[in-house]
Amino acid sequence: MRKDSVLICGGRIIDPGDGIDMIGDLLIVDGVVAWLGKSGCAPLKQSRNVLAARGMVVAPGFVDIHCHLRDPGFEEKETVASGTEAAARGGFATVCCMPNTQPPIDTPAMVEFVKAKADSEGRVRVFTIGCISRGQQCEELTDMNGLAAAGVVAFSDDGKPVPSSLLMQRALECGRRLDLPIIDHCEDTSLTAGGVMNDGFVSARLRLKGMPAAAEDSLVARDIELARITGARIHIAHVSTARSVDLVRRAKQDNVNVTAEATPHHLTLTEERVAGCDANFKVNPPLRTRKDVEELIRGLEEGVIDAIATDHAPHTAQDKTSDFKSAAFGISGLETALAVLLTLVHEGKLDLVTLVARLTVGPAGVLQSKGSSTVVSKQPFPGGLGMLRIGAPGDVTVFDPDLEWKVDPYLFASKGKNNPWSGYLLKGKAVATVVDGGVVYKDNSVRMEVRRN
Ligand code: DOR
Repeated sequence: MRKDSVLICGGRIIDPGDGIDMIGDLLIVDGVVAWLGKSGCAPLKQSRNVLAARGMVVAPGFVDIHCHLRDPGFEEKETVASGTEAAARGGFATVCCMPNTQPPIDTPAMVEFVKAKADSEGRVRVFTIGCISRGQQCEELTDMNGLAAAGVVAFSDDGKPVPSSLLMQRALECGRRLDLPIIDHCEDTSLTAGGVMNDGFVSARLRLKGMPAAAEDSLVARDIELARITGARIHIAHVSTARSVDLVRRAKQDNVNVTAEATPHHLTLTEERVAGCDANFKVNPPLRTRKDVEELIRGLEEGVIDAIATDHAPHTAQDKTSDFKSAAFGISGLETALAVLLTLVHEGKLDLVTLVARLTVGPAGVLQSKGSSTVVSKQPFPGGLGMLRIGAPGDVTVFDPDLEWKVDPYLFASKGKNNPWSGYLLKGKAVATVVDGGVVYKDNSVRMEVRRN
């Protein structure tokens, strides 16, 4: 990505990592944060792009540690180009893509392939997550050392769990040596087989096969115990149940190396929404109960949930318009994530600074190295990402928390139009996304000029 310079003027700069919340200017020079302070005081030595951000929030570039770019193999659903354009429009300066592609990202050559694509057509920073098991078959481990050297930032078989506790323990041991987290999709599939929504009153009323909360909780508990004995870093993907939040909370109190993420949809929607049998609400893990949503929000506030991740899962219309039972699981969420999350702020359920923290320094912290690794990575996760500290990567998200807009998936950059907020009026929108000092997305509502001094 080309290193560039930009001055962002007059916005409310929120950098939770450094406890900054002030009105001022932010200067990025040659791709890195060079200065921030009171408006009008920035050192202006050369001509540069100037973004007028008065009335806007200026935050570190959002980091999404869980999305599906579908490339290679499912280019009809998404590509690196369309998925990263969607990320830029949603305010995400960094995305980490899951390896359930075709073929799966389970060899160093596949990691190189995604990196080459990201370098040539990516609009934002792309990091790759490598498979835990070969072909995601849950039988043998991948060449985790080779994948780490090629540049993966974590390992996961996402879309599927790792049913074998022995394989998971070995993955954790290897992850520990490499100082890389293992991300698990916690689902006991013997309990969820054939299920299409949360198991409870609503599934009973609709006569649909349910997926019980215990299917998630039991694997979260297992993973925590394996992380406890190995000392490795386990990251729980898309936490959806109250019990899982509590398991993570207790494990953190015990100093287990566990981190967790929640998605915008699990933080805002309940199983009741499935009643209309609209497949846009069909997602795995399923939308749960009001109590689960409340506990997820509480976990987010407390920091038990470290990160918000979109689990952006684009599908074709055909994958979704078949009947509810056979429709694919997933939500195309990069372009609505911020606005959906801001509903929690507008309703007084979450404060804005915490929200920004869980989209920036929180997720970056999940992937940043904690010690030393036994291999040298070709694409290490940069220090300082998710913060606006001097010298940090010059990634910024400028958003208007009050801008109202109507969701029309047919205007998405993502190829996936499968979004449950279609037709909704939402409040809050990214108006500019900056990566390495370069403006990779800008809404018409924000003014940019080139100033010569
Ligand atoms: O709903 C989901 N869709 N959950 C997952 O874990 C995988 C994802 C996908 O790849 O479509």
